[in-house]
Amino acid sequence: MSHLKIEIDQLHFAYPNGRQILTDLSLVIEQGESVGIIGANGAGKSTLLQLLVGLLLPQSGRIMVGHTPLTPKTLPWIRERIGLVFQDPDDQLFLPTIGEDVAFGPRNRGLDEATVSQLVEHALASVNLAGLQDRPPYQLSGGEKKAASLATILAMEPDVLALDEPTASLDPRARREVIELLKQFKHTRLVTSHDLDMILDVCDRTIVLQAGRIIADGPSNSILTDEKLLQAAGLELPLRLQPRPF
Ligand SMILES: Nc1ncnc2c1ncn2[C@@H]1O[C@H](COP(=O)(O)OP(=O)(O)OP(=O)(O)O)[C@@H](O)[C@H]1O
Ligand SMILES: [Mg+2]
Repeated sequence: MSHLKIEIDQLHFAYPNGRQILTDLSLVIEQGESVGIIGANGAGKSTLLQLLVGLLLPQSGRIMVGHTPLTPKTLPWIRERIGLVFQDPDDQLFLPTIGEDVAFGPRNRGLDEATVSQLVEHALASVNLAGLQDRPPYQLSGGEKKAASLATILAMEPDVLALDEPTASLDPRARREVIELLKQFKHTRLVTSHDLDMILDVCDRTIVLQAGRIIADGPSNSILTDEKLLQAAGLELPLRLQPRPF
């Protein structure tokens, strides 16, 4: 795994309809950090992750991955380094079987079939989907699809995992398993979520986005216990910290 620092400098982004989504956004993520990105619906979390892998291009500002600036030319390299797991698994799974979806990335890297098979097996086993290679994605439950999309990224062996709402639509046990898995990774992790209890478990640092601006950035156990701050961002305390009604 290479040592990659991510530097985002004065990023401005608007979708083609012209509405400003991210405004003057700057942040630095060191190798190995696990960072939560939280904010109300529409705050710009998914947009930020898509900018990071060049699926969207900013109007101005700069993204550096290690010593490499993100440009159309460096995109293929950057997408090998940073693996984005989409919010919606249907955006990630597009081939007839899960096995083919997971093999897609490694095959694109030109690896031989024996290595591809090994990576596929390992990635599926690590998300508890061993043996499901031949299943079509539409025959999986929502949680299994989520796990399969994580496997497509793990098989690419990226340095940085960018995870957009990794626990959404998971049942409690599957959610717990994803949390345990994310805790084990040594990768740099960027995790967006409304599941603030998960962020507390997985991320040492949390960034709060409000209407496309960073309004706070610090240790998760300070940010996620600051009720006033969370309220200002349209959020609430993690469930485990909320006062019980009786
Ligand atoms: N393709 C698009 N074209 C125009 N506007 C878009 C597009 N995609 C998203 N938006 C708008 O950009 C804003 C930020 O969206 P984004 O998906 O980044 O929010 P988010 O923080 O991930 O929200 P959520 O918590 O609901 O996932 C929203 O107001 C959304 O309506
Ligand atoms: Mg989103």
